[in-house]
Amino acid sequence: MQPHLPLTAPWEQPLREDILALSDRAERLRRLLLVEDWNFHGQKDGSALHTLHPFPAKYPPQLPRTLIRYLTRPGEWVLDPMMGSGTTLLEARRLGRVALGSDIDPLALTLVAAKMQPPDVAGWRRAWPRILARAKEGLQHHSDRLRAALARRDEPTRAFLAYWFLPQTQLELQALVQAIEAEADLALRRLARIVFSSLIIAKSGSVAQARDLSHTRPHKVDKPYKSALEVFRQKARRVERLLQQVAPFPNTPWLLAAADAQRLPWPAARVALVVTSPPYAANAIDYMRAHKFTLVWWGFSIRDLGSLRGEYIGGESVRGRVLEPLPPAAFQPVARIAAVDPKKAQVLHRYFSEMRRTLAQIARVLRPGGLAVLVVGDSTMRGLSTRTPEALAALGEQVGLRHLATGTRALDRDRRMMPARRGGAMSAIEQRMHREYLVGFARPEV
Ligand SMILES: C[S@@+](CC[C@H](N)C(=O)[O-])C[C@H]1O[C@@H](n2cnc3c(N)ncnc32)[C@H](O)[C@@H]1O
Repeated sequence: MQPHLPLTAPWEQPLREDILALSDRAERLRRLLLVEDWNFHGQKDGSALHTLHPFPAKYPPQLPRTLIRYLTRPGEWVLDPMMGSGTTLLEARRLGRVALGSDIDPLALTLVAAKMQPPDVAGWRRAWPRILARAKEGLQHHSDRLRAALARRDEPTRAFLAYWFLPQTQLELQALVQAIEAEADLALRRLARIVFSSLIIAKSGSVAQARDLSHTRPHKVDKPYKSALEVFRQKARRVERLLQQVAPFPNTPWLLAAADAQRLPWPAARVALVVTSPPYAANAIDYMRAHKFTLVWWGFSIRDLGSLRGEYIGGESVRGRVLEPLPPAAFQPVARIAAVDPKKAQVLHRYFSEMRRTLAQIARVLRPGGLAVLVVGDSTMRGLSTRTPEALAALGEQVGLRHLATGTRALDRDRRMMPARRGGAMSAIEQRMHREYLVGFARPEV
């Protein structure tokens, strides 16, 4: 089969001939990191599917798209081992590359599966009214069963639900969950689960008694009752319009795994390109804090979710964690922070240890000559910079990768959810916090 390459789509930027002329791909990446504008502010992103559900700290689709187009050919393997909402995977799939992804976040896994294999619009148009009708029927005739299902949850989960959801909303959400799970077709069921999640995790208008869940900091607010079924209907309609814009994907394979980035299930020496953005140091975004609002409805208990939270890279607890010896560029910020706050320094040591193991896995799965780009921000602890991009470059070198270059992009504050800043000149550390860094590596040829 001839892979389909949508190079003429209006959202495609032309590729630079001088960079394409470089036959060595590592040299191409080095040049790209130094010359390309990675900001993409205000540009059209080209696929409605990216907007299916909010996800914190997504990067713009143009970022992986540019790297994939310059650095790989159709049919080659592209991996994101911390895929989040699947921006890299969706772009790889649209461009006819084999798309591989993993994450430990159950919401991420369902969301990406829904994007990689969306149902056709006609199927969805029939499915969502059927789901709604089943949910209504459950509420009208079987509310005792819905109450019993809620009563079977363990105590901490019940307390969580009671705190964040009105009693009537709980019944409606339970009815919707059961109606969705009764759908026979997996692609429809997955998409319906994501629509369900978007009733709860939303910037505004969430059916939870919480504000701003898509920004990961839940604040309790007392809101008047709003019908979850009605919101489901609105969101389902929006998704119907969105599916109408989705072009068919090339017929290349894709594969997802629920896996820790430190223990990747992918075979050795096959991947041509990794594009990924790990969590920041200092656990700047607590994914579970918002995602648990959906995941409790998918059957997870608050306790399970608490333990899963401990597995996120950069978590705060260091008990029982294996700390690795660090190269000087990673050790120095840890030592500086240790002088003022030894506990925080341990947290940073855990983060760098986990990133070292992740980079070792990336080195293992890349084929000789394969490339990797990690998109990270800097963090501060006790007012001191964690020097994350420099530390990651050195950690990559420690596990056998070659650091090629580090590019920068200005953060769009509104999109990447940074706190608003007051006026005045920016300090050097603040300037670093307003940027993201693209740390580029190659696996040496043997
Ligand atoms: C910055 S987000 C990725 C966003 C993604 N680039 C996008 O555009 O949507 C970081 C991701 O790392 C994942 N993550 C955190 N710890 C992980 C681990 N130990 N193994 C795999 N993934 C992990 C989080 O669940 C989150 O989805």
